[in-house]
Amino acid sequence: MDPVLSPSTYLQENKARFLDELIALLRMPSVSANPAHAGDVRNTALWIKTHLEQLGADRVELVETGGHPLVYAEKIVDPALPTVLVYGHYDVQPPDPLELWNSPPFEPVVKDEKLYARGACDDKGQMFLHLKAFELMQQAGPLPVNLKFMIEGEEEVGSVNLEAFLRKYREQLKADVVLVSDTSMLANDAPSITTGLRGLSYLEVEVTGPNRDLHSGVYGGAVRNPINALSHMIASLQDDQGRITIPGFYNDVATVSEDERSAMARAPFDLKAYKAHLAIEDVAGEAGYSTLERTTIRPTLDVNGIWGGYTGEGAKTVLPSKAYAKISMRLVPNQKPEVITALFTEHFKSLAPAGTKVVVTPHHGGDPAVTPTDNPAYRAAARAMEATFGKTPIPLRSGGSIPIVALFEQILGLKTILLGFGLDSDAIHSPNEHFGLFNFYKGIETVPLFHQFFAEEMRNG
Ligand code: BES
Ligand code: MN
Ligand code: MN
Repeated sequence: MDPVLSPSTYLQENKARFLDELIALLRMPSVSANPAHAGDVRNTALWIKTHLEQLGADRVELVETGGHPLVYAEKIVDPALPTVLVYGHYDVQPPDPLELWNSPPFEPVVKDEKLYARGACDDKGQMFLHLKAFELMQQAGPLPVNLKFMIEGEEEVGSVNLEAFLRKYREQLKADVVLVSDTSMLANDAPSITTGLRGLSYLEVEVTGPNRDLHSGVYGGAVRNPINALSHMIASLQDDQGRITIPGFYNDVATVSEDERSAMARAPFDLKAYKAHLAIEDVAGEAGYSTLERTTIRPTLDVNGIWGGYTGEGAKTVLPSKAYAKISMRLVPNQKPEVITALFTEHFKSLAPAGTKVVVTPHHGGDPAVTPTDNPAYRAAARAMEATFGKTPIPLRSGGSIPIVALFEQILGLKTILLGFGLDSDAIHSPNEHFGLFNFYKGIETVPLFHQFFAEEMRNG
């Protein structure tokens, strides 16, 4: 047997290999949204399964779902110890627009201490650091907790088959807390722990005018143009204060305490750098709220895509028959996606001017989540970050959505710790997605401490 190395020495000696392994994982184009990649998605799951087996995990399983498979594994060292369920996802967003990448999305490169590839941060890099943390802990001695891993392949398409899995595997998934690294921190020198996620209601609208595309000279001016109509309808969904005009939209929005708001106001958020990073002259949003508040504790409505009519080369004078848009609303506690979807649908239909017909089709949704800070798991996470970053992490809500987090609570009765190591500037879902090597290695260093401190905190009550 190899002599036991301290975790930091072991990490130091194996850094290069860890990075090579992550690069191999990132080479696999596990795009869950694209059926043409179904084989790649499966191969990625198999790669993770094999990797977990090699790391000495038990009961490693490729679990079939109604869609892409997920990988389950566990290491039960002592039933008397607390159990941590680690969740992550190995599927990634589509990489397009390809022409905006400086290097191909599935040919990872390291540049300026950052690893560039689709999925580098969201979530392969952040998921994989848990596997490496597991490796680190295993070589240092017996695990301080029991570990269960659940790595899914459908997060980016709404985790539609996960609810059935949670119900079916309820016994097997029994744990004391869920640990997830799929969010971001404020900055590398300002660690934070995510304490809330927004929910989501996502739908598609179709507005039909005349029964076919028309000559815009012959008919223009007399027949309602569905694209013009759709633009009006969308524009009216927000008022000049940035508030959403759907009746009842704000009814269930929980008010955030003044304490939490003033804590947010003290977070080291650099508005100037934020604007510079996005090349915008000013930010915009709901009146009366800061940028951080607008992206976390307030609900939003955004058009994700809009199309119709002629969009090819040159000009074609046409009055189109149809117009479409994809619209998403980010929700906050205690808004319910089903309720919001219904309110939107009713209101949007009522906006349709004479001469148009509207169809609204809901896509996926998800509940918002807030995670408490007054429990052993949060204390363990804060202590772990404090130890590795040298700073007390700031509890901060996030604007993104991970619908499964609410289901962990509803189905398994488990709280989640969102211990993310990414940065908002990592360009997740965008061209040139990347993950800092600092962040990858910090994660590997921090996670074993979380487990150790969690065991301690649970012992001490
Ligand atoms: N990891 C993200 C969510 C996230 C990103 C949370 C950054 C906090 C900070 C996740 O993979 C994601 O992209 N979720 C989707 C929702 C899903 C239903 C497609 C999202 O937020 O758009
Ligand atoms: Mn993710
Ligand atoms: Mn994502």
